[in-house]
Amino acid sequence: MERRTIGAATLDVGAIGLGCMPMNWAYTGSRQRGEESLRAVHAALDRGSTLLDTADMYGPFTNELLVGRVLKERRSEAFVSTKVGLLVGEQHIVANGRPGYVRRACDASLRRLQTDVIDLYQLHRADPEVPVEETWGAMADLVSAGKVRSLGLCAVGARSARRSGARLHDGTIRQLERVQQVFPVSAVEAELSVWSTEALDALLPWCAARGVGFLAAMPLGNGFLTGTLTPGEGFEPDDLRARHPRFTAEMMAANQSIVVGLRRVARRHGLLGNTVTPAQVALAWVLAQGRHVVPVPGAKRERWVTENAGAAGLRLTAEDLAEVAALPGAQGSWD
Ligand SMILES: NC(=O)c1ccc[n+]([C@@H]2O[C@H](COP(=O)([O-])OP(=O)(O)OC[C@H]3O[C@@H](n4cnc5c(N)ncnc54)[C@H](OP(=O)(O)O)[C@@H]3O)[C@@H](O)[C@H]2O)c1
Repeated sequence: MERRTIGAATLDVGAIGLGCMPMNWAYTGSRQRGEESLRAVHAALDRGSTLLDTADMYGPFTNELLVGRVLKERRSEAFVSTKVGLLVGEQHIVANGRPGYVRRACDASLRRLQTDVIDLYQLHRADPEVPVEETWGAMADLVSAGKVRSLGLCAVGARSARRSGARLHDGTIRQLERVQQVFPVSAVEAELSVWSTEALDALLPWCAARGVGFLAAMPLGNGFLTGTLTPGEGFEPDDLRARHPRFTAEMMAANQSIVVGLRRVARRHGLLGNTVTPAQVALAWVLAQGRHVVPVPGAKRERWVTENAGAAGLRLTAEDLAEVAALPGAQGSWD
């Protein structure tokens, strides 16, 4: 698989990563597919998808434990990204950016991941009660201590961005400017896909101008862009899509034209003798947004992981990219 070198700490990874979140969190059936998920992580490494993206919050904790089972056997083949700063409380998810907590959380992540170093340690969300420089300083100390190789920042959550009334990523860029004064940012993680393109306006250029890598979260539109979901499909209450405005039957029907467009491009490439899927076109589109971009599609099935890794070999033409750019914008808000 093509490799991409990103960030101040020159992170060298396969062009398509693996989002491990759906294996234990946020999607229907997440908790019942342990063995299948393990096979999926192994399949990713087998195919060169070396970047494994997890977080202590996913599960909580079980996602890191799962990734740790693979790292125990194949640490040298993997690039592990995990996150700190969000805790699952009784009622709500809460932020904690206190330095002492960050230090303890890192040690706990290292234990669960069965490794002595985390390749990319990301601040999941800044704590409104703690200056972000303070949290970032504690994370930088972990680099000095050899527990972490590089630091990343996840974009401000969509809901809080909307509350501020500014453009989606303005708050994230402000945070980035602040933490850069303390210690270099190697990567930013934010949503980017054919149906969520807000990061293209300012965040992606900000990263490109500073040699900061960009991890594209939700590059398959939470599965919608793969064309395998049908309008009216019911989601279990623990599935994030049960409450997502774009996943009502009405919005899924209204947005089908996007999938139709991806399928059209896929069919054109498929004519060359191989099968190309809408998911692969969606990922190839993300890859085409910059050499510093690495999509982290989430999947818990080996079959999807293999298919998604295959997108690294798909080169979209200028005509394909223009066709995707001309697709109707998504209906329904992003959160
Ligand atoms: N930093 C942050 O705040 C943040 C927020 C959200 C996500 N993330 C990261 O981004 C990663 C990706 O986001 P995501 O998983 O929510 O969304 P996604 O990658 O857009 O979509 C994941 C969904 O697509 C399905 N899927 C994957 N490949 C497929 C294929 N080839 N054909 C059909 N269906 C396919 C998966 O199914 P199965 O589950 O059945 O395999 C899963 O339901 C996460 O895993 C996480 O690491 C980060």
